Amino acid sequence: MKERTLTIIKPDSVVKKTYGSILQILLDKGFDILKLRWIRLTREQARAFYEVHKGKPFYGELVEFMTSGPVIAAALERDNAISYLREVMGATDPKKADPASIRSRFAESIQRNAIHGSDSPENARKEVAFFFAGLELEQASAAAEANDGK
Ligand code: RTP
Ligand code: MG
Repeated sequence: MKERTLTIIKPDSVVKKTYGSILQILLDKGFDILKLRWIRLTREQARAFYEVHKGKPFYGELVEFMTSGPVIAAALERDNAISYLREVMGATDPKKADPASIRSRFAESIQRNAIHGSDSPENARKEVAFFFAGLELEQASAAAEANDGK
């Protein structure tokens, strides 16, 4: 079943210019990129986006990191997109990630770990809506389906 999920290419990947390779991996793995935007998150946006982690010891540093430079947010579509993206990303700690995964290849540390992916259908819905308007996504989804059929 086709699903949508949200990815954020994190500031470390933008600074190092590995974002092109990461986006290419996502395309090679069969994700359609419905919408994509460059954005420098404000503190308020980063705090709201990672609200689930409020109170955890790494929350403050996470907000600092995610606002340290621009990121690329993208709405992705694919069969089984939510869990498959998590598999392609690899474990949060790159030292524990599958060697073929994005985090194993591109992440520096448990915090500067290259990429975000939604972790459940409920969060995917919320996180896609955080960055992108519904009507635009429907149009992009129809265009991607027509393109995939070619
Ligand atoms: P994400 O939400 O970014 O896709 O990452 P995740 O599900 O694999 O990991 P999560 O537990 O949701 O943590 C969110 C992000 O917080 C940073 N973090 N730092 N210093 C630490 O121990 C620590 N733990 C987590 C990472 O940037 C992680 O991706
Ligand atoms: Mg998470």
